[in-house]
Amino acid sequence: MLNIALPTGRLGDRAYSVLRDAGYGCGDVFGDNRKLIFKNEEQGISYFLVKPVDVPIYVEYGIADIGVAGKDILIEHSPDVYELLDLGIGRCRMAVAAKNGYKEDNNRTLRVATKFVNAAKAFYRGKSREIEIIKLSGSIETAPLLELSDVIVDIVETGTTLKENGLSVIEEIFPISARLIANKSSYNFKSVIINEAVEKLKGEIKK
Ligand code: PRP
Repeated sequence: MLNIALPTGRLGDRAYSVLRDAGYGCGDVFGDNRKLIFKNEEQGISYFLVKPVDVPIYVEYGIADIGVAGKDILIEHSPDVYELLDLGIGRCRMAVAAKNGYKEDNNRTLRVATKFVNAAKAFYRGKSREIEIIKLSGSIETAPLLELSDVIVDIVETGTTLKENGLSVIEEIFPISARLIANKSSYNFKSVIINEAVEKLKGEIKK
């Protein structure tokens, strides 16, 4: 049995299409239903749909043999998993943004609002810049608008959210895309089926 953890939402939906086209279809995954666990006993596949940030947890604990996670989540949480393949979907970037026309005062501690605390800390440590992290859970863009922070560290995909809120990118931190990850012991014990999946997915990505 190959157990696969997928993120709920748009990225999971797109990842499932790639997996299905590569021969790993499994019933009505991401269909018009609220089911979260799908099994195809005949094909020996099961899917779990979990919150994007939880995919590496299910994989690290071996509940899922493989999974799909954004590079942002892998960088932020450093799970003990193998990263097998860049799926080339869910492309976006981690960036610093602020209000249009923002000028940084280097004599003051920089207030940084973000969901990605570790990524932000590592970025500013690399610049030896003193910061204060303000951890938020979502809608990060409101923080500089309401003067809660000077800047934000957040994901930018189309740039629409920044634009519609009068914000702009100051610096790019790293590019992001979805990665196929594997549990380390599953990768040893199920190496044949996992490597077969990697090869089929590579073929599908090239198309
Ligand atoms: C993400 C991110 C930005 C937005 C960027 O938010 O935090 O807000 O997408 O996308 P864009 O550049 O295409 O506008 P998400 O939708 O994950 O919700 P969140 O506010 O809960 O983080």
